[in-house]
Amino acid sequence: MSEETPDDQLRTEQHDPAVPEAYAAFMRTGWDDRPSHVERHPVADLAAARRTRLAEVFPGERLVLPAGGYKVRAYDTDYRFRPDTAHTHLSGNQTSDAVLVVEPDGSSSLYARPRSGRDSDEFFRDRQYGALWAGKRPSAEELEASLGLPVRHVDQLADDLRTSAKTRVHRGVSGAVDVLVDGDAGRDAELARVLSEMRLVKEPWELEQLQQAVDATTLGFEDCVREWDGVLEHGERWLEGTFFRRARTMGNDLGYDSIVAGGSHATTLHWIENSGPIVPGELILLDMGVENAHLYTADITRTLPVSGRFTMLQRDLYTLVLQAQDAALAALRPGARFLAGHEAAMVVLAHGLDDLGLLPVSAEEALAPDSRVYARWTLHGVSHMLGMDVHDCGHAAPEAYRDAELAEGMVLTVEPGLYFQADDLLVPEELRGIGIRIEDDVVVTADGVRNLSSALPRTPDAIEEWMGRLRG
Ligand code: GLY
Ligand code: MN
Repeated sequence: MSEETPDDQLRTEQHDPAVPEAYAAFMRTGWDDRPSHVERHPVADLAAARRTRLAEVFPGERLVLPAGGYKVRAYDTDYRFRPDTAHTHLSGNQTSDAVLVVEPDGSSSLYARPRSGRDSDEFFRDRQYGALWAGKRPSAEELEASLGLPVRHVDQLADDLRTSAKTRVHRGVSGAVDVLVDGDAGRDAELARVLSEMRLVKEPWELEQLQQAVDATTLGFEDCVREWDGVLEHGERWLEGTFFRRARTMGNDLGYDSIVAGGSHATTLHWIENSGPIVPGELILLDMGVENAHLYTADITRTLPVSGRFTMLQRDLYTLVLQAQDAALAALRPGARFLAGHEAAMVVLAHGLDDLGLLPVSAEEALAPDSRVYARWTLHGVSHMLGMDVHDCGHAAPEAYRDAELAEGMVLTVEPGLYFQADDLLVPEELRGIGIRIEDDVVVTADGVRNLSSALPRTPDAIEEWMGRLRG
């Protein structure tokens, strides 16, 4: 397929040299444009089955799921493209600007932006889509062969959406697509809810992807410890860079910005500046995850003693968090409430905080739903669903997620923490600036959970042994 792109629609820059017709005409000739052989995408059949399930929820309706487009970082430099999760879950497509449309009869098409032909200047002049600037995009035929979906050019989408079918859009992903369909916020929110809820229970292939992401993340943590000399010299930035290298070599990217938090930075839950020093004697909290090639991410946190050994105080506090995590892990099984892990961890932490003499009331009183004063030092929930989004299934209804029972095949994090802010006058000075979180990724099995991230040590002894071994 080849589309003429008029000169004024090419994404060029004012500092680009002029393109005389002689040069342009010469560029359009002499290319080997034979189609490439393309393997069927490993997710093509799974995605087809998912589309069938989705269409059954909304019979007779048209469903529009954009991949999204490039996002500006600054002026004409964009972030690397990462497609919308629901779009890729239901199509396998990872190219930008595409839109999956499930038609009222249940059939589907992918409206895509394939590579242009050589009869247009796009391939050598367009900085965003041109093959010579941004890389060769797949052709429509290649996308069809790979994804098992009929492919039309995305420029046809506006016309094709003009028919009278009742239409829902996965809104907020693509402004360009959102304006094509009059909104009904309630109906579109219902689509978003169903898209999230479809991903609550992972398929066996998805569990393999998650395990692969976790295994790559384990290697990334090991890389960090192996490079501890660089860490001590260059601080948090070194660890961020070290882990990123592993994420890019073994996966697609990071699943989320790494949290590399030395010392009191660990008390900032989403510390992603990663600009501080790493100080011997302190703790460092690492919350990092590799997103694999199919966009499934891990989400793992370890809190390590910078010097390789925990102080007595650090070990005691760490052990309290570990006991809370163990309690949460033991509470999770099919039929248990999603919040059962959180509540079990909070019982342990509230009693631990009471033992430290920090609570203004008894642990039991603090644990009452109308109190929760202990949460000054625990701050967040202990679990979230994990999948292609780090906080997966976020649009699911509370009764399907937060207030629901767990089911076999769900994958969630278990991540209690204790955080004593540096300026917290209600804790002894020796506690101020200490933050500890332990986070593992588990899948709900027939009778409990299996820890996908068990290859990374969790106990203080195992962490010290592991750090000693990897640092040589
Ligand atoms: N890993 C960051 C979070 O769960 O919020
Ligand atoms: Mn998490």
